[in-house]
Amino acid sequence: MVAEAKEQQPPAARPQIKVEKAVKSFSGRVVVDIDELVLGDQPIEGLIGPNGAGKTTLMRMIMHSTPLDQGTVTLYPSGINGEGIVLSALPTHRMARHGVVKSNQVIMDFDKLTILDSLLLAVAQHKYEQPQRIFDEKRVYDESAARIHEYLEFFAFGDPTQFAGSAGEKKLLDIVRCLLLEPRFLLLDEPTAGLPEELTEKVMQLIRDLAATGTAVVIVEHDLSVIWNLSNEVHFMAEGNVVMRGSPQEIRKNKTVIEKYLGEGHV
Ligand SMILES: Nc1ncnc2c1ncn2[C@@H]1O[C@H](COP(=O)(O)OP(=O)(O)O)[C@@H](O)[C@H]1O
Ligand SMILES: [Mg+2]
Repeated sequence: MVAEAKEQQPPAARPQIKVEKAVKSFSGRVVVDIDELVLGDQPIEGLIGPNGAGKTTLMRMIMHSTPLDQGTVTLYPSGINGEGIVLSALPTHRMARHGVVKSNQVIMDFDKLTILDSLLLAVAQHKYEQPQRIFDEKRVYDESAARIHEYLEFFAFGDPTQFAGSAGEKKLLDIVRCLLLEPRFLLLDEPTAGLPEELTEKVMQLIRDLAATGTAVVIVEHDLSVIWNLSNEVHFMAEGNVVMRGSPQEIRKNKTVIEKYLGEGHV
């Protein structure tokens, strides 16, 4: 029933994010300096560039898990021609309700709680200012638990009442956590790094499915086959700035990209 009701609604316009005059320095060294960057023109956008180019910092600035020295980040929930919400002016705890979600390059700690409890807590924190409410709302609890089981089955996880084992498992759980939050704008920082190929394939499938429902996805990944495979558009970042954008085909054969990043013989 729920699925049918959802299908009848027209697909929501994809949200976009605009980064303007955004500067971030660490110890007096500028690591991000972006005049203007719009993300979300395309369903899935890749963000690539050499180590230290500022990709993670840029994503953290968007989430304001790191504060901007200057500039603004604005979310346009229905696209750039609609109304904007200045994310960089919001307190961090208000970010969640706007549907902007980020995975972590360095994964969260799944050691203190079981897999099931970690994921339930993540959903509860996202949904309620008082996370314990998830235990009062039986329907939300049951639905969340059911979705958690679905994802875990999809990834062929063992018993969710156990603790997460390997770094790879934790990595996947972090992706599951992001998906459970039903993001409208999803930032993925090296989501498949260290995963075996069959799991990478599964993650890619979920990302594609999510993007098809109108969620904007921006993905940083060093495994370029993932980028070329998934992205409708690619941003190339170097020395703190997005210096080029284009289709995967254009970016792959671009001279600057090859010189600064890919190296001859890569393409
Ligand atoms: N918290 C921090 N303190 C000091 N320097 C940092 C911090 N975070 C990132 N940097 C520096 O900023 C630059 C950009 O880093 P990062 O955004 O992680 O790049 P990327 O994700 O593209 O590899 C690097 O030189 C890095 O050492
Ligand atoms: Mg990084």
